[in-house]
Amino acid sequence: MAPWAAVVVWLLAESAWCASHLKFPSGFKFGAATSAYQVEGAWNTSGKTPSTWDTLTHNRPQLITDGSSGDVACDSYHQWKDDIQIASELGLDFYRFSISWPRLMPTSFPDEINEDGRRYYDNLINGLLDKGIEPIITMYHWDLPQRLQDHGGWSNPLIVEWFEEYARVLYKLFGDRVKNWVTINEPFTICTIGYAIGAFSSGVHDPEVGTYLCIKNVVMAHAKAWRLYDKEYRKQFKGRVGISHQLFYLHPTSEEDEEIASLAHEHYVRAYDFYGFNYYTSRKIRRRRDGESLGQLSPMRNIKELDAILEVDRGWDRAACFWFYVYPEGIRKLLSWVKNQYGDVEIVITENGYSTKPESGSNDYDRIKYYRDHLEQVLLAIHEDKVNITGYTAWSLIDNFEWNDGYTTKFGLYEVNFDDPNRQRTPRASAKYYKNVIQTNNIEIPKKFSTITDEL
Ligand SMILES: *[C@@H]1O[C@H](CO)[C@@H](O)[C@H](O)[C@H]1NC(C)=O
Ligand SMILES: *[C@@H]1O[C@H](CO)[C@@H](O)[C@H](O)[C@H]1NC(C)=O
Repeated sequence: MAPWAAVVVWLLAESAWCASHLKFPSGFKFGAATSAYQVEGAWNTSGKTPSTWDTLTHNRPQLITDGSSGDVACDSYHQWKDDIQIASELGLDFYRFSISWPRLMPTSFPDEINEDGRRYYDNLINGLLDKGIEPIITMYHWDLPQRLQDHGGWSNPLIVEWFEEYARVLYKLFGDRVKNWVTINEPFTICTIGYAIGAFSSGVHDPEVGTYLCIKNVVMAHAKAWRLYDKEYRKQFKGRVGISHQLFYLHPTSEEDEEIASLAHEHYVRAYDFYGFNYYTSRKIRRRRDGESLGQLSPMRNIKELDAILEVDRGWDRAACFWFYVYPEGIRKLLSWVKNQYGDVEIVITENGYSTKPESGSNDYDRIKYYRDHLEQVLLAIHEDKVNITGYTAWSLIDNFEWNDGYTTKFGLYEVNFDDPNRQRTPRASAKYYKNVIQTNNIEIPKKFSTITDEL
């Protein structure tokens, strides 16, 4: 080994040693998340009307890898007590879940509240609170009422008012007990991936116009819902309203690409009471070279407005989903970027997690490693970069319907047996690891979990 290499190894070992002794600050909260369409099932019972995902999975099953749907999913609509039980078993401070708009408001409008739907969410909220777990509600996690989609969905400017009225219903019904709200999950995914691919919930393929109409209305809808809370409910309920952004870290390919990387990050973001931060993966970014074609427009491969190409580093491992390359340093770099760009906003990591193939079962050592390596970077962001991060959310509490992947990729801390009518939930090794992190405030992987590598 060359002497300089020894120094590098020593430095790496030293910094790893430091990070592993860092602690999350007091008051830091740990949670896990799911979303309505991915877990609830009961798609056509108890007064619920169809969402865009019901329509997409039923009418165009070829767009889902295994042709499946969320018709039953984890049956959380009936098995909600199990979900609360496992959230409690893990020692979570909070559980982030979403409301199905067409379950609560079957006409899409406030003229009719579905009492069964309301009871379901009341039970879930109250059950969590009984166990000392804070409910965090996402108002919109992609299952738009089909009726609204028929009237243009996110490309119709009227949706801004429709969403405001929906938000008002949620504040009125649940605001006494729910203090942290996420209005909309991942505008980038809804609008850019949504309209660029056409295989997503809108079912519309129009990257040129659809994406921009959608982005404008999503941002306006969020702003309306925030303003409504601020004006009419904040004084009484003393809660907070944020939004969750999906951020890819875009690593500049060379020094010349630093500016374009920063512009590309700006593409995704804005903050309100707190900044909800979803992170999974990274790409390298560079300017298109003279004579090179941008290729077919794709949010994972290029950014037309910036004339930029996105690429994968050969050194990055890949998780089970086709888009998912692992680069733990990306989360820290992005967290620092948000702080530098937007000032010292409070950041809640509202999603972070890893996907495996169904065959890997419950000995998910690679998921443990993903969590450990990302939590380490979060600790470094808190202690070295002084980013104000107050919470971390594992995606996901349980295996569920993974959108276009159907049930072929798994994100759960708990494995769900989809052949069992009761959809039994069983903890994976990663559930035990995460529980240990929460209990001990130590991210290192206990020996008993490391031995799992031998079994893999
Ligand atoms: C609900 O959908 C299931 C298929 O998932 C179907 O078998 C059942 O008949 C439907 N129920 C109603 C009330 O339409
Ligand atoms: C982080 O933000 C919260 C909410 O604004 C604030 O109460 C807290 O003091 C901040 N913490 C640090 C370390 O700046």
